[in-house]
Amino acid sequence: MKKVYIETYGCQMNVADTETVFSILAQNGYARTSDMDDADIIMANTCSIRDNAEQRIWGRIEQFNLRKKRHPEVLVGILGCMAERLKDELLDSGKVDIVAGPDTYRKLPELIAAAASGTPQIDVMLSREETYADITPVRLDSNGVSAFISIMRGCNNACSYCVVPYTRGAERSRDFSSILREACDCASRGYREITLLGQNVDSYGFEGTGFAELLGMVAGQVPDVRIRFSTSNPQDISEKVLTTMASHPNICHHIHLPVQSGSDRILEKMRRRYTREGYLSKVRRIREIMPDCAITTDVIAGFCSETEQDHRDTLSLFEEVGFDAAYMFYYSERPGTLAARKYPDDVDLATKTRRLEEIITLQNRLSLESNRRDIGKTFTVLVEGRSKKSPDELCGRNSQNKMCVWPDSRHSAGDTLQVRVKDCTQATLLCEEI
Ligand code: SAH
Ligand code: SF4
Ligand code: F3S
Repeated sequence: MKKVYIETYGCQMNVADTETVFSILAQNGYARTSDMDDADIIMANTCSIRDNAEQRIWGRIEQFNLRKKRHPEVLVGILGCMAERLKDELLDSGKVDIVAGPDTYRKLPELIAAAASGTPQIDVMLSREETYADITPVRLDSNGVSAFISIMRGCNNACSYCVVPYTRGAERSRDFSSILREACDCASRGYREITLLGQNVDSYGFEGTGFAELLGMVAGQVPDVRIRFSTSNPQDISEKVLTTMASHPNICHHIHLPVQSGSDRILEKMRRRYTREGYLSKVRRIREIMPDCAITTDVIAGFCSETEQDHRDTLSLFEEVGFDAAYMFYYSERPGTLAARKYPDDVDLATKTRRLEEIITLQNRLSLESNRRDIGKTFTVLVEGRSKKSPDELCGRNSQNKMCVWPDSRHSAGDTLQVRVKDCTQATLLCEEI
């Protein structure tokens, strides 16, 4: 049996896709290995979202080729968004044998077989239909607690900075009956948490069923499993999603709501279809309906033409919302996107990094303040495993997706229990069992 090793980069969608790839390969007689030096086929499932993500992969391709030098029969494959974006450029490097885009994974067995006979293979056709609905992923979560279920693929929003619509193609939603089946399957295998994944989950739609209905159906189908979802788009998240969240005890109170910028002028150039005020009123509505709901975000510093005032608008929006956590980036121009074609990348690197640092410093304080507000509160946590820092402690997340740690010798991964917050750091709630 040939052994396949896959490294996964990028977002949760890629993690879910790697699980699909392993399932397709397993059905075709390939075994999985987590040791690159033991593999006959070495692959990376890649991300193109920022330039440094791609640079890292080029570095890995060099590493893979070190093994190939010693064992010329080893095949190197590049999957995912970078395969889709760079296409032949990867093959032309002479260091890659297989290039497969996100919608061609069913063809991997063929591509591998053909590459093994000496001709490099590429298939980067995007599809309007492929959702891999019938493929039961091989779950890679090692402690068997948390599973991803992809509910849609692609993206129809044309945010001007973003490469995803080019690498993942048009948006398509997966048949809800296959999603419900997969949720039941996860529950029966002991998974305690399911995250529904899509680039813009609020635009899910299959035969008249929207995201709010889907969310309610999944939550009702597996009432003992926690449900999370990502990502919500500020312009699309609906009242009905919020009321569905509030009415099902197993749907977690956490919304990841990427804002990108606090300046209306920049939001318009980014082609985000909401304003600062529109965003803030969504936040207010979320908190009216679920006062304990955590809100996290993504932000880009130094987008084309961003002024100090635009940047201060982002800082003040962060302050006003008081995000519980954030993923923060500086703008990286992606070739072929609308922004790359239309706007000069005119904020210099020093300014971008300085602005990013200012946002990070502010968010670190906001995260700490958010955690401090939780001191004295009790939460239900789902145990993920031993705390990395101290072996006498367990760690797990509360509904708000905050990491909790507490001394515990009785419970194990997958259990739920009540804890009280005694203290905190910026990243963690330090708790005791009650
Ligand atoms: N679909 C999600 C985001 C997916 S990409 C959404 O619309 O919210 C994840 C994050 O990467 C984005 O939210 C954005 O903050 C960041 N990102 C995307 N393109 C980028 C670029 N060109 N430069 C820097 N950050 C980028
Ligand atoms: Fe990119 Fe915008 Fe689609 Fe998110 S919604 S994946 S940022 S185009
Ligand atoms: Fe990256 Fe592709 Fe996800 S570009 S963020 S792996 S959709």
